[in-house]
Amino acid sequence: MKKKILVTGGTGYIGSHTAVELQNAGYEVVIVDNLSNSSADVVDGIERITGKRPTFEQADCTDYAAMERLFAKHKGIAAIIHFAASKAVGESVHKPLLYYRNNLVSLLNLLELMPKHGTEHFVFSSSCTVYGQPDQLPVTEAAPRKPAESPYGNTKQICEDIIADTVKSGAPIKAILLRYFNPTGAHPSAEIGELPLGVPQNLVPFVTQTAAGIRPKLSVFGSDYSTPDGSCVRDYIHVVDLAKAHVVACQRMLEGKSKKAVETFNLGTGRGVSVLEIVRTFEKVTGVKLPYEVVGRRAGDIEQIWADPTFANAELGWYAKETLEATLASAWKWQQRLA
Ligand code: UD1
Repeated sequence: MKKKILVTGGTGYIGSHTAVELQNAGYEVVIVDNLSNSSADVVDGIERITGKRPTFEQADCTDYAAMERLFAKHKGIAAIIHFAASKAVGESVHKPLLYYRNNLVSLLNLLELMPKHGTEHFVFSSSCTVYGQPDQLPVTEAAPRKPAESPYGNTKQICEDIIADTVKSGAPIKAILLRYFNPTGAHPSAEIGELPLGVPQNLVPFVTQTAAGIRPKLSVFGSDYSTPDGSCVRDYIHVVDLAKAHVVACQRMLEGKSKKAVETFNLGTGRGVSVLEIVRTFEKVTGVKLPYEVVGRRAGDIEQIWADPTFANAELGWYAKETLEATLASAWKWQQRLA
């Protein structure tokens, strides 16, 4: 029988791509999302790509009673992939309580409900933000976590700790923490992609909106960093590669192949790319001239970070396969579909 996977935040950017890959791998998908930062139309996109409509429940993971009803209705959830969370760094500085409530209470509810309903496997959306500015690059999972720069980053660290403490206490739960680098691009079909609300904070949506004429120009935040061209360096990973890693993580737990009750993996390409390289590559791939201006540094930005994905490659047999060119081309195709 097909195993049932609950995807919280499943109409969101990474969640929707993961729902597609789970269905393609034969899993039955139940999505729960409060639609605070996404649309129910995304379910149609998932259906158009896979030929199968995932079950969709509109509910808020911070609502314990609603989640209890969801577990009772959808019996036999084998694993949960928990994406549902607030993720805007700047907003978290102004509304810390919103971030702590949303991101922590959701997690607490799920971890409390899992043993009651016999769900043993948990995949958590974490972030490379937990490393701060690493002392050594590329960064491995063994690198120490640095004090968080924002309430958002702090919620990721606290959530990782809550999961570890819960498992350590003897709860019948196994978990995999996935630390994402910079998820980018969209499904090649352009049926689903990132839907930023308002002015995008992340680089690539800002780039594609600028290229589409929605924004007059891109501001490149800083050119005086100690990097080869002076702009910040990140590890941009195609969202479809990232989504596939979640399928592998679920499979690993469901097949009893985890080596520890809580395992942590970096999900990145292993390649550092600068902001100016993104601009140049985007222009090359799309043939569109991108107006940009170098401005001052953005507060709170780290200079450079990219993943050492060796552990995920070796243990999960998973690799980020897409090129930066294909990733940016998919982001542009999606933007054109939106525009
Ligand atoms: C940011 C968050 C990170 C979070 C992630 C979620 C910060 C400091 N970090 O990552 O904690 O997990 O989003 O998506 O906010 N840039 C420009 N112009 C722009 C936008 C971005 O030059 O208009 C630059 C930034 O300075 C940075 C790079 O592009 O060097 C990537 O920025 P962004 O997409 O916001 O991602 P991160 O900062 O890596």
